[in-house]
Amino acid sequence: MKTVVILISGRGSNLLSLLEAELPGRIAAVISNRPEAGGLAYAKERGVATVVLDHRAYSNRADFDAALGDEIERHGDSKGPDLVLLAGFMRILSDGFVRRFSGRLLNIHPSLLPAFPGLNTHAQALAAGVRIHGCTVHFVTPALDSGPIVVQAAVPVLGGDTEEALAERVLRQEHRIYAQAVRWFLEERLLLTPGGRVELLGEGPPATPLISPAQA
Ligand code: GAR
Repeated sequence: MKTVVILISGRGSNLLSLLEAELPGRIAAVISNRPEAGGLAYAKERGVATVVLDHRAYSNRADFDAALGDEIERHGDSKGPDLVLLAGFMRILSDGFVRRFSGRLLNIHPSLLPAFPGLNTHAQALAAGVRIHGCTVHFVTPALDSGPIVVQAAVPVLGGDTEEALAERVLRQEHRIYAQAVRWFLEERLLLTPGGRVELLGEGPPATPLISPAQA
């Protein structure tokens, strides 16, 4: 059975949805860079090993990333876990770390990438006046919030939306598509092409268009 390590920094709602998704793999550990991360409790309640690796104890990014990589590799078999998931892990990762886990490192980002990388994505979407917003699961490459896209979900931006209302609408879809992407990976259905794109083996019919605002 394939093994998964999940990295978090905070609330852990994506972690919770992954823990509850009955994935065809074993979640070997949850690692947080913040001791106060609420998500740690979800793992503990379910008997999943938790580790806190506080980045503030390291004097530079390279040292922290090396220690984090070593900790990740302690879980899973001798080669470390098959898959590493960033689930609200709010740290920029060094090129060395990303290369170490290349092809087995996924992230969820709360926008339709390549639109709105970085922080405050819902505020960015509202400021830009987009009618459609969403979330993306992608393989991680060294540049921030970039890398081959696995799956995206789109939601309408509604008149009068606040950042919070929009975030909540997107988050519900994050929980759906992250579990879906992880399932595909564990079922060995995701193929990274030499051109840096993702092919889904046995892809289903195309999704229906989302038009926003819809016609009356
Ligand atoms: C999620 O919205 C996730 O997409 C985002 O942080 C939130 C974590 O929530 N990640 C990023 O912005 C990464 N660039 P959670 O802790 O409840 O899963």
